[in-house]
Amino acid sequence: MREIGMKAKTFRVAILLLSSVLCCNAAELHLMPWPAQLEQRPGFLNLNQPPQFEVSGADERVTYAVRHFSEQLSARTGVPLRSGNGGPPFVIHCKSSGAKIQTLGEDESYQLNVDEKKIELTADNPLGILRGVETLLQLVQPGVQGWTIPDVQINDHPRFAWRGLMIDTSRHFMPVEILKRNIDGMAAVKLNILHLHLSDDEGFRVESRRCRKFQALASDGAFYTQSQIRDLIAYARERGIRIVPEFDVPGHSVSWQVAYPELSSLPLPSRLVRDDTDHDRPPLDPTLESTYKLLGKFFGEMTALFPDKYFHIGGDEVDGKYWDKNERIQAWMHAHNIKDDHALQAYFNKRVQAILAKHGKRMEGWDEILSPDLPQDTLVQSWRGPETLASAAKMGFQTLLSAGWYLDLMYPASQHYAVEPLSGESASLAQAEQARIIGGEAAQWAEYVTPEILDNRLWPRLAAIAERLWSPASVTDQASMYRRLAVVNRDLEWLDLTHRTNSQRMIDRIAGDAPVDLLETLASALEPVKEYGRGRTESFSTQIPLNRLVDAIPPESDPARRFTELTASAVHDPSLRPELRKQLLQWRDNDAKLQSFLPGSVFLSDLAPLSHDLSALGSVGLEALDTIESGQPMAQEKRSQQLAIVEASSAPHAEMMIVIVPAIRHLVEAQP
Ligand code: ACM
Repeated sequence: MREIGMKAKTFRVAILLLSSVLCCNAAELHLMPWPAQLEQRPGFLNLNQPPQFEVSGADERVTYAVRHFSEQLSARTGVPLRSGNGGPPFVIHCKSSGAKIQTLGEDESYQLNVDEKKIELTADNPLGILRGVETLLQLVQPGVQGWTIPDVQINDHPRFAWRGLMIDTSRHFMPVEILKRNIDGMAAVKLNILHLHLSDDEGFRVESRRCRKFQALASDGAFYTQSQIRDLIAYARERGIRIVPEFDVPGHSVSWQVAYPELSSLPLPSRLVRDDTDHDRPPLDPTLESTYKLLGKFFGEMTALFPDKYFHIGGDEVDGKYWDKNERIQAWMHAHNIKDDHALQAYFNKRVQAILAKHGKRMEGWDEILSPDLPQDTLVQSWRGPETLASAAKMGFQTLLSAGWYLDLMYPASQHYAVEPLSGESASLAQAEQARIIGGEAAQWAEYVTPEILDNRLWPRLAAIAERLWSPASVTDQASMYRRLAVVNRDLEWLDLTHRTNSQRMIDRIAGDAPVDLLETLASALEPVKEYGRGRTESFSTQIPLNRLVDAIPPESDPARRFTELTASAVHDPSLRPELRKQLLQWRDNDAKLQSFLPGSVFLSDLAPLSHDLSALGSVGLEALDTIESGQPMAQEKRSQQLAIVEASSAPHAEMMIVIVPAIRHLVEAQP
């Protein structure tokens, strides 16, 4: 469609391609998130010279948008920034300047019109200009006459106002530069909230000038200075992204107690949590006035540092056993008629809420804070399951979804993409209740994530979640999502994200003297174990380097997914079988070539069972393919042997699994 190139105006009978229809069309554009409304016409604009900007109604974010567009266009096309004056006009009109501090629900809509002569981008608010520019960059593609943008008319706006990403900076500290490049990635897919998890048992990550013991005693020297925080907030604002801080209390607060032991519910933790042998993780003591005194002092400072209206207090996974065992706390609860741990946490939350309200903030917390007597302006983040989303909305609270969007659980993009905030119990809520579901957030906990790995754990899967939160609910085609995601995955590299490059460099490093292509062939069939599988077989430690193959490979293997799809089709379609056979041969024969290199390196030796199993699976797959091709029946006994090999190959090793197992099983079962 994009190559039609018919210039005559008379030919420009609009081909109306509504978003959900085009999403399944072979000529689909590489847009992600897919816009609310899109009309594509035959024809395209040539962009072999940088456009001539005509900007009106600018604020500093529009200025940034123009610079960003120019720089990215130049990077992605190789056309120098200033190469003559022959480029088409790019008319940008922003009707008003936005709020000084970006607010929830601020207008992000935009209208984009591209024809053969010019580009027009119009929005009521600078946020719309930022979003529209990202859409435009995704439309730039090579054509028969060089770089082009297809003729389109786009009318776009987000489905949900809160589209976020949480990054845990406590378990592993993430330097500012790494957050910045991920803010650029977020902006590229129209996310608008970066939620920073800034304190936990493993470390406290922000400089306090009022409570200096936090960084002095509880950060291991790894924390953001206040000037870095201000710089980061300004950087995010320029890109239309809010930063919401989280300081997790009263649980997940060993770092607080290392700095201020007098706040502990006891026994006092001896140090920051480093590994699974650090058992004692008591919450703060909510019965002490000194707890609220420190919270008042510290939150007073942080509410000024972080300008966003929302302030996250954590509130998750409070271990009440420490309160149960503490006689003084029990006596206090009795005297104050507080019946159980949940009620004690609710008391604590109300006290904290009052502190935040005094500083003009709305309190946010994980869904454990849910309790009917909290002020109605509290925001509840659902993580334990979608039911808590519906419960919070029913109780009158604003709420957002994270259950189903935990990126640390290593699920494929398709699984995250299928999560729908307004499904299940939420689907049957009254309209006013549904309106309280304001969006969602992906979450990246960092027990097994270092700065080197972070990008690869976020991207490209985060883009699929971004689409769920921005695009109309009808945009659900998984095959289309994967096609477009592959392009987004590639183009995110222009923002200096390292999801592909670091993965490759780490695999190179692990290979050492072994031929890296052999290691890559093995890796192509592997994924990290899912859910909390890694924590069950390997103890967590902040001290151990994350430098093994499980840390280097992407959470989702594209070759394995394509192989699985190919297998399903090839069972019925003989024309696809040569390709299937080629892949199976490569996997079968890899082990013989790789084996001799494995014992020589600790980074390779634990891969031996996987390499062996992959070869066995390749053999079984080839046998099954032969039988399918011959049409001769397979003896029951032989089939059972094959299935036994398949089952034996499904056990994880070195924290990874061979993910082509179901496809091979499918081939075995498809034998006559
Ligand atoms: C959480 O995952 N504990 C919020």
